[in-house]
Amino acid sequence: MTDIEELKAHYLVAIDACAGLEALETVRVEALGKQGRVTALLKTMGALSPEERQVKGPAIHGLREAVTSALAARRAALENVALEAKLAAERVDVTLPVDAILTGSVHPVSQVMDELAEIFADLGFAVATGPEIEDDWHNFGALNIPDTHPARAMQDTFYLEPQARAAGDGHSPSSDGAGQAGPAPFVLRTHTSPVQIRTMMQQQPPLRIIAPGRVYRSDWDATHTPMFHQIEGLVIDRGITLGHLKWTLETFLRAFFERDDVVLRLRPSYFPFTEPSAEVDVGFTIEKGKRVIGGDPNGPGGGWMEVLGSGMVHPKVIAACGLDPAEWQGFAFGCGIDRLAMLKYGIDDLRPVFEGDIRWLKHYGFAALDVPTLSGGVGTA
Ligand code: PHE
Repeated sequence: MTDIEELKAHYLVAIDACAGLEALETVRVEALGKQGRVTALLKTMGALSPEERQVKGPAIHGLREAVTSALAARRAALENVALEAKLAAERVDVTLPVDAILTGSVHPVSQVMDELAEIFADLGFAVATGPEIEDDWHNFGALNIPDTHPARAMQDTFYLEPQARAAGDGHSPSSDGAGQAGPAPFVLRTHTSPVQIRTMMQQQPPLRIIAPGRVYRSDWDATHTPMFHQIEGLVIDRGITLGHLKWTLETFLRAFFERDDVVLRLRPSYFPFTEPSAEVDVGFTIEKGKRVIGGDPNGPGGGWMEVLGSGMVHPKVIAACGLDPAEWQGFAFGCGIDRLAMLKYGIDDLRPVFEGDIRWLKHYGFAALDVPTLSGGVGTA
C-alpha cells in the first residue's frame, strides 16, 4: 500500500518539475510505458487473490488515474507556455514603415480616375460602367448619330465581325459605318457616351453619374493612341439648365487642378447627342517658365486650352431611352482622362503613358497607399 502512495507522490512531484514537453514524455514512459513502473503494478493484479485485489485494485487504478491526469494537466500548461512564447517572438509590428524599394506605384491615369471619382462623389455623382465592346445602337444610334452621319467617320473605330443582334432587344438593326448592309456590328466603343444610354435605360431619373473607362479609335501619333480613357458625366432631372452644367464643370476643374483661379470658356460646338453643345476651354498661364492651368489667360504667355466636350442632352436621346423630354432635361460632358493627367502632372508625350516602362512608372507613379481625398488634396504627388 505504502509503495503505491510513494510512487504516486514521486510521480506527481516529477511531473510538476518537468520544464518541457520532452522531459514530460520521459516521465510518462517511465510510469505508463510498456516497461513503466505503474504498468508493472497493474500487471501484478492478475496474480493477486480476490481479497487482495479488492483492497489493492482501487489503489493501483487510482494511481494510474492520478498520474494520467497530472500528465495531461502539465502537458496543457507547458503547451500554453510554448504558445505564449511563440506569439511573443513572432509578433508583427504593423507600425514599422514598409520597404519602399518593394512597393509598386499607381499609374497616373488610375490616380486621376480616383481623383475624379472623389471630386464627383462630393457633388453627389455615382460611378457607372458599360461594356467596351459596344453595339452600334448604344454607341451611335441612340445618341442621335444615324448610319450616314459624318461623326461616325470622325470617331472611326474597330468593328467586330457583324453578328446577328440578339432577338427581341427592341432595337432595329442597322448597317455599319462602312456601308455594309445586314445585321448591326459590334464596335469597340469610341466614347463613354453609350453609358449615358445604358444608365437612362436601367435607372429612373433623377440621375447623376460619371462613367470613367477605356475607349478606342483608329488613331496613332504623339497625342493620339488607339486606346485612351474618357470620363462621361450625365445629369438628368427636372429643370436642369446650362447654368448647372457650367457650375459643375467649373467646380470640378477647380477641384481637380487645385486652384480657385481656373477660368472656363464655353465655345459653341456640335455633337449630335447634345443641343446646344459647347467645347470647354480652361485658361492657362506661364509660371516659372512652365505652362500651368489657372490664372489670367489674357495675361502674358496666357491662353486657352480645350479640355472637354459638353452640352444639354438632346431631347431625341432622352426620348430614345424611353423618357419624356418635356419632363426630363439634363446635361452631359465627356473628357479625356489621359489629357487631364498629362496637364496636371506635366507629362508631354501620350505614348509612353501606355507602354508600361518601369522607369516611366517610377517617375510618374503614385504611392499605393496615398489615396486621394478632397480634404487631404486630390493631387498628392
Ligand atoms: N462623346 C463626345 C466625344 O467623345 C464627348 C461628349 C460627351 C460631348 C458628352 C458632349 C456630351 O467627343
